[in-house]
Amino acid sequence: MDVALGRLRLSNPILVASGTFGYAREMQQLVDLSRLGGIVPKTITAEPRIGNTPWRTVETSAGMLNSIGLDNDGIEAFVQHHLPYLSSLPTPTIVSIAGRTCDEFIEMVRRLDGLEGVAAIELNVSCPNVSGGVDMGTDPTLCEQVVAGCRAACEVPIIAKLTPNVTDIRAIARAAEAGGADAISAINTCLGMAVDWRRARPLLGNVMGGLSGPAIKPIALRAVYQIAEAVRTPVIGIGGIASLDDVMEFVVAGASAVQIGTANFYNPSATMAMLDGLPGALAEIEATSIQEVIGTLKTDP
Ligand SMILES: Cc1cc2nc3c(=O)[nH]c(=O)nc-3n(C[C@H](O)[C@H](O)[C@H](O)COP(=O)(O)O)c2cc1C
Repeated sequence: MDVALGRLRLSNPILVASGTFGYAREMQQLVDLSRLGGIVPKTITAEPRIGNTPWRTVETSAGMLNSIGLDNDGIEAFVQHHLPYLSSLPTPTIVSIAGRTCDEFIEMVRRLDGLEGVAAIELNVSCPNVSGGVDMGTDPTLCEQVVAGCRAACEVPIIAKLTPNVTDIRAIARAAEAGGADAISAINTCLGMAVDWRRARPLLGNVMGGLSGPAIKPIALRAVYQIAEAVRTPVIGIGGIASLDDVMEFVVAGASAVQIGTANFYNPSATMAMLDGLPGALAEIEATSIQEVIGTLKTDP
């Protein structure tokens, strides 16, 4: 079940997605953390952020909208208070960071490089709820610049997390690859909104937010398929994955690994069930490894 994401080796392809698993400690009584292929904690920024005004989450018919706005205590608090616990786990931690500028991304990468417990860094160039970072995920030139700058500034593997809120995600993926990304994760949330028509008010304090959960799975599958066709860099599929069937669909479409997000909120043991079933799913199609299944989708008539 082991997978290679560029220079990053994982014991299995089931990871948890940023912003949906806290800093892992919160989940230790619900999930056997040591079984996960990797943990991506909540995105951190250079300085603490209080995030957006409430309401910040809304349930929708097939998922949820959030406009958290990268509420976090900043990189120093993360290094002091969360990293020691994360590094005590046998599971690799992929630290998610967001900067307002290319230089801020690079500064953060420098701060994290070489710290015990940082197995890789995921660049969140895709949060729809803050200005700044998202621009880098929608402009190929900026995306390549930030990935290349971060790659040059550290020894650890770099993952670029892309937004689906672009016209052609392949162009952004190519830019991330040109910048030297070890892997590309896709997708972050889809920009959406919810309205209370009686009060003629938006439900989210920030008016718009990011849609996640089962509603976005087809969009995510499409994005993963397109990216895997466009680049040689391994892809981590994210978006609406809630069952083992979902996992296998993403792998066949081209994902080398997956991250589970919204499902953690309503079924915290979803990842454990996926891990339990994975060997059986491989046996069902007579595969001896995940590697054999990645990108095997047949599209000929
Ligand atoms: C409440 C919430 C907070 C999130 N916060 C972050 C974040 O801080 N950084 C990030 O890269 N993605 C964040 N995401 C996006 C998820 O990591 C994931 O890309 C997205 O939700 C799609 O996957 P899912 O449908 O399985 O949730 C957040 C998602 C939710 C629902």
